[in-house]
Amino acid sequence: MIGRDLLAISDLTAEDLWKILETAEHMQEVGRRDIKKVPTLRGRTIINLFFESSTRTRTSFEIAGKRLSADVVNFSSSGSSLSKDESILDTALTLEAMAPDVVVVRHGVAGVPRRIADALDAPVINAGDGAHEHPTQALLDLFTVYQEKGHLEGLSVAIVGDILNSRVARSNIHAFTKMGAEVRVAAPPTMLPVGVESLGVKPCTSLREAVDGVDVVMVLRIQLERLSGALFPSVREYAATFGLDREKLRYAKDDVIVMHPGPVNRGVELAPDLADHRPSVILEQVRNGVALRMAVLYLIAGRAPAPIAEPKQ
Ligand code: CP
Repeated sequence: MIGRDLLAISDLTAEDLWKILETAEHMQEVGRRDIKKVPTLRGRTIINLFFESSTRTRTSFEIAGKRLSADVVNFSSSGSSLSKDESILDTALTLEAMAPDVVVVRHGVAGVPRRIADALDAPVINAGDGAHEHPTQALLDLFTVYQEKGHLEGLSVAIVGDILNSRVARSNIHAFTKMGAEVRVAAPPTMLPVGVESLGVKPCTSLREAVDGVDVVMVLRIQLERLSGALFPSVREYAATFGLDREKLRYAKDDVIVMHPGPVNRGVELAPDLADHRPSVILEQVRNGVALRMAVLYLIAGRAPAPIAEPKQ
């Protein structure tokens, strides 16, 4: 993966995914040390180019880079020359002129990280683009499930929520199906993309059907800020029909785990008690995000430095 962009799970093979998970296991060990730092990326520069708000992804990319001894620069659109109408592409080219080794991009519009990747020489990592993909979220979700269950093939995973508008759902569908898991998606019909079966998943229009006998329930955030029209009658009705609580979870396997990419709308898609306690693994997901992003940064930017040319006589 050295020097490659990471833009979508759909671009990766199952072999790529295993390589990333194995590397994340090594990186997890670094995070357990007293001194959580290795010199692996010393001399490398990572730019976090975030055009949309983030807590988990931006912070964990920053911590991941710093644990690998890279220099990490955080760009956020507020306070930048975007407010003077500089374009996104000019912003990216300007930052590339400062010689970063990796650029991590989040944008609210699908396709922007790929457009930036086409224009830059530096590898680009997609940190979430519109409703398209959020590949490192799916990778840390895979990693969390693998650590909890010890395998991925043959597991049943239910993804519940706004499948239509969710980049997390799209990336996780690709990730879990590539690894041989059975994936069900559940939502009100207005939140299920037409033809979602073509992605190799089983659509369900009731939560009961979706969680029946599953190993994993992944609950998605209701993205009130992205919903252009009313996709469901009211938040209260959504909570009553698709909000997960312990009562609805009892149809799943006894050792089911509950996941959520965050941030959680407590009492809407997930009952507060379930968000805070097992079988929820939400904070394990956050913890694993650092090791996983260390693995991705190492695999993309961890090449040996080019030899320094002999000075001309
Ligand atoms: N899961 C996720 O992408 O969270 P942030 O928006 O806080 O980065």
